[in-house]
This record gives sequence, C-alpha cells and structure tokens, in this order.
Amino acid sequence: MNITFAKPSLTGTATLVVGCAEGGTLTPSAARLDKTSGGALSKAVAHARFTGKAGQTLTLMAPAGVKAGRIVLLGLGVGKALDGLAAEKLGGAIVAALAMSGESRAAVVVEKPKGCRLTSNEVAAQIGHGARLRSYRFDKYRTKQKKTEKPSLTRLTVMCLDVASARAAFKLAEALAEGVALTRDLVSEPANVLTPPVYAKEIRQLSRDGIDVEVLNEARLKRMGMGAIVGVAQGSQYGAHIVVMRWNGAGARGNKAPVAFVGKGVTFDTGGISIKPSAGMEDMKWDMGGSAVVVGLMRALARRKAKVNAVGVVGLVENMPSGTAQRPGDVVSSYSGQTIEILNTDAEGRLVLADALWYTQSRFKPRFMVDLATLTGAIIVSLGNYQAGLFANDEKLSRRLVAAGKAVAEPVWPMPMDDHYDKLIKSDIADMKNIGGRGGGSVSAAKFLERFVNKVPWAHLDIAGVTWTKEGSELVPKGGTGFGVRLLDRLVADHYEG
Ligand code: BES
Ligand code: MN
Ligand code: ZN
Repeated sequence: MNITFAKPSLTGTATLVVGCAEGGTLTPSAARLDKTSGGALSKAVAHARFTGKAGQTLTLMAPAGVKAGRIVLLGLGVGKALDGLAAEKLGGAIVAALAMSGESRAAVVVEKPKGCRLTSNEVAAQIGHGARLRSYRFDKYRTKQKKTEKPSLTRLTVMCLDVASARAAFKLAEALAEGVALTRDLVSEPANVLTPPVYAKEIRQLSRDGIDVEVLNEARLKRMGMGAIVGVAQGSQYGAHIVVMRWNGAGARGNKAPVAFVGKGVTFDTGGISIKPSAGMEDMKWDMGGSAVVVGLMRALARRKAKVNAVGVVGLVENMPSGTAQRPGDVVSSYSGQTIEILNTDAEGRLVLADALWYTQSRFKPRFMVDLATLTGAIIVSLGNYQAGLFANDEKLSRRLVAAGKAVAEPVWPMPMDDHYDKLIKSDIADMKNIGGRGGGSVSAAKFLERFVNKVPWAHLDIAGVTWTKEGSELVPKGGTGFGVRLLDRLVADHYEG
C-alpha cells in the first residue's frame, strides 16, 4: 500500500475518511460533508451504534451530493487521550475498514479533536505508521489468490496542513515498520525454507543497510567450546550458527560501548528426543521469534540511522530427534565453562542462549543485554497472549522496558527472580540441569539464563505468548506480530541515543 501526504481537500474521488470525537461531535470537514449531503452523516450516526469511540468506523456508501464513492466516519475518541499510540491505532482502524472493501483509494482528513496535545502533522504521521503496520501481509506462498481475496486498497493519502513535517516524521516511522515487517516475514516462513544456514544467509543481507554481519559456523562454535548450542543442533542435518550484527551509529562523541540484543533462533522445535506431542507442533516454526526480533530491530535502527552502537547476536539451530540427537541425561560443557545436565531435550532455548549470552558479554562488554526468546509454555499459562514476561537483574533497565512497552502497546510484565528458583536447577552430577520443577517454569528458565550473565545489566523477555497471534489486533494482523521490535526501538530512542 502506498501511503502519501497532502494538503486537505474534500473534492477527490477517493473514499473520504473524516473524524468524529467521542460523544458524536463531527470534525469541521465531517460537518461540511454532512451539510453538502443533506445531513447524511448525522442521520447515519443516529441510526447506528456509533459514538465516536476511538477506532469505531461507520461507512456511508455513495452519499448524494458528495463526490466521494463513500465516506468513512472514524471515531477519534476523547481528544485528551489521542496520543501517538492512539493515532497509530486510528491508522490501523482505517485499514481494517477499507483494505478488503473494494475501494482502491482512500484519503483521510486529519483534524484533531479538542484536547489533543499532538500537532496535526504528528497525528498524520502516526496514522500513516499504524496503517502501514496493520496492512502487513504474508502472501508469498499463495499462487491462486482471487482478486476478491486480495486487498483492494492500494493508496492512502493522509491530509494535513504541514505536509513536509508529517513526511519527515513518517520517514522515521517507515524505517521502524520495515524492521517490524522483516521480523514478521521471518517468523512466518516455514521451517523447511528457513533452515539455520538459509537464515544466516538471509541475515547477511543486512549488510546492505550498513550493518556489519559475521556468521560463526558450527566448526567455529565447536572450536570455541560452545557445547550448549552445538548439542542442541546435534540431531539436525544443519549445524548450529551464531550470527553477529553490528550497527555503529553513535559517532565519535557518542557512547562507544554498545547496547546488545540476543535472540533465540530455533528454526523448528520438535522437542528433540523429549519429543513434543504432534498436535500444534506446527507452531514451533516460530520458535525463532526472539532472533527475528533482533534482526528486525537491527534493520530498524540502521534504516533510521539511530545514534547508537548496537550489537545483535542470534543463535540459530534446529531441534530434531535422530540417531545423532542429544539424549536426556547427556552432560555438555558450555562456552562459560559451566557444565549442564540435559534432563529434557525440549528445554533447548536456554542452551542456545547460554552460549550466545556468554559470548555477547565477553566479546562486547555491552551497556546492557536484552535477550528475547519463545522460551516457555509456562509464560503463556501465566500471562496469556497479551504481554511478555520480563525478568531482569537490574531495576532501572526493568523500569525502562515497562515504560517503553506501555508507550508502544507491547506490554511486558515484571516476574520474580528470587534465588529460591535458582535452587530448582541444581544437578546431581553437573553444575546445573536444564529444567526446574513443574511449577514456575518460566522463572527457573530465567534463573538458568542468569547463570550465564556476569555483572552487566540484563533483561530477558519471554515472548512465547506474544510472538504469534491467531486473532490480530489494532496494529497487528493475524500471524507473526513482530512484538519486541517497537518496544526495543523505543527503549533505545528514549535512553541510549546521542
Ligand atoms: N519453544 C518452547 C516453548 C514454547 C511453547 C513456545 C509453546 C511457544 C509456545 C520451548 O523450547 C520448550 O519446549 N519449553 C518447554 C520447557 C520444559 C521442557 C521445561 C516447555 O515450555 O514445555
Ligand atoms: Mn523446546
Ligand atoms: Zn523451543
């Protein structure tokens, strides 16, 4: 979909989107259309359950006296509540109302309701951004789509007074949206296509964005003593890979030490010898969701030329059962030197992250590390599919993540890290085992990771519940969500640039 900005006009032939504040107050252009159409808008409002609640839409087909093919009345909500995020959601609502409607062009007149503190060009840029996020599709593998199954809307014009500054703000938002789209693409790819080596090659493409990419292959990982990640890949025909991405945007006077992001990239998780039940196993193609967030985030930072030094490190493996697979009871030696008794081969994500985290902190001495992983089913039991679990060893980083999550509608919820849970992973024969007890599974997993973190501020996001959506929401179509990219981009923008 093409998104452009222009000066307001009510005379085009496209569908016109105009606003209505909560309580039913039409914006000036909506009121004008109401007048020229002989009261069609107010009549429609009176007959529908339309109150102007944020994101509500009411469509009028071919109203007499108006040139447009249809008019969409868009609820703006309470003016005071119309912040950047609310404006994004309005953009999402426009796409939801029109993408499949048969209409190919729409134009939205941006007029903010009373009490809104944003400038109208800010609202305009955010509407564009929300429209972009919501209009994402993954159609690559459909060869027989009928015209009526494809989106009709190909062009959205956002009309506001200060077109130049709306465009400038939108340009930055587009960089972010490209990162989110990349993450969603990667998460949506089936595991027969996106194998660890193919994934590594895909990440190499980021060098076009000015990102320095290094791929460590299995031979290298073995030589370095990364027994934890290598053991997970042992049952697969594909070797383990670690891919390092570096964006150096801080400049000469900026803080040189990088911020670091680490991701779990299990391209498919069968569980290994501790094999999973077959029902729902197809979901495990998105067990590389954490890594995909890191990749998408790196692209977003590079494309918007973020003034920060950032490293992304992802561990790529496939967890398969086979004659060469790791067995329950095996003991491996991790990159940190600590030994791990593998009591369940399905608790593989923490093994991948153990080596990736240790590698990241020892090589880069980062200002902080945030890892992301679809780590435990237990976090879905705790938090459902709305927010991610946040585990941290640093109060400040934790607070910043919570605030960033609120600002972009990617909420994260702080979970406990008491030492009690660390005892659950004591092993009888090695330094630790890779599973805790039955209860508190997400916490013992986080405590396992903590053993591979030295004095650096660190946070772990368990995104198992939020990486994929069967329902979709205001800014997210069904499928891969990209949850984490906007959150971490905001964290960086608010605290670590310049
Ligand atoms: N990838 C899974 C976690 C998962 C489950 C993600 C459902 C998304 C949806 C992870 O590797 C796993 O299998 N975890 C086990 C850990 C257990 C064996 C201690 C789990 O959650 O059951
Ligand atoms: Mn698993
Ligand atoms: Zn897994």
